[in-house]
Amino acid sequence: MAFAQERMNEAHETNRRWWEEVTPIHVASEFYDIPGFVAGRSTLGEIELQGVGDVKGKTFLHLQCHFGLDTLSWARLGAKVTGVDFSASSIAKAAELAKITSLEGCSRFVCSDVCQLGQVLNEEFDIVFTSHGVLEWLSDIDQWAKIVARFLKPSGMFFIVEIHPLCLIFDELQEKELRLAHSYQHSNEGLREFNRSDYTDRKYVPQSPRTKMLWPLAEVVQSLLKAGLPLAEFQEYYFTTYQHFPMMTKGRDGLWRLPADLPQIPLMFSLTARRPSD
Ligand SMILES: C[S@@+](CC[C@H](N)C(=O)[O-])C[C@H]1O[C@@H](n2cnc3c(N)ncnc32)[C@H](O)[C@@H]1O
Repeated sequence: MAFAQERMNEAHETNRRWWEEVTPIHVASEFYDIPGFVAGRSTLGEIELQGVGDVKGKTFLHLQCHFGLDTLSWARLGAKVTGVDFSASSIAKAAELAKITSLEGCSRFVCSDVCQLGQVLNEEFDIVFTSHGVLEWLSDIDQWAKIVARFLKPSGMFFIVEIHPLCLIFDELQEKELRLAHSYQHSNEGLREFNRSDYTDRKYVPQSPRTKMLWPLAEVVQSLLKAGLPLAEFQEYYFTTYQHFPMMTKGRDGLWRLPADLPQIPLMFSLTARRPSD
């Protein structure tokens, strides 16, 4: 138990340093387009807007919120938001953006490891939300699911839209084909990566290493069931919201797909779970 905790802390600390290094690159990137956001652009996609539904007046916890663009987009729709991330510079930027966009009154940002959130926050929310590139950074999926359950009110809703774990078994660098590079099975060691371009700026290669984890869908679902959160909905999607593989092309709808002559695989999934009423 103590060994597992130590291993989790070590992997998360490696990843936290990676995130601290790339956050200023992300803040300055066209990918995140902060000026557009400040001018009123919502960063939320159709999947999460439809999946979460009306948030007006609801208390809303956003896990792994980065510098808060999605969190504050939910606040613009009327939610009372709390964003959580373990990157101090991300949280500081999120708080600054809340001020600039006059959303301070309905938003709050907390710097914490998601798996240790119980040590710094003590309340329950109508909605717990997380999205796009979150699970691969976590070393303990059962602990994560317990946190999700811990922070939901009775009848509260959890929603996640995420990169499909199948995307993580292929070599991202291949130009024209998907080459099987990693096992789909979870391994406690994860995949330690060096010298991988940043996703917002392919020219920027972080100095810090990172440890990525693949969580098979069955383990994600099982972790939520074990934490007492039955599934209400589950979907898979054959597109992504950004260019995950070099050979993907962007459609008129702004979504990215594999070439039509390649076999198609699911590239994202979404899931809704609800805490039963007491
Ligand atoms: C790909 S970003 C999520 C993107 C987010 N959906 C957005 O709207 O920008 C992943 C985030 O997870 C955070 N993160 C990774 N591991 C974490 C952990 N153990 N606890 C808290 N935050 C973590 C990173 O700091 C980063 O901000």
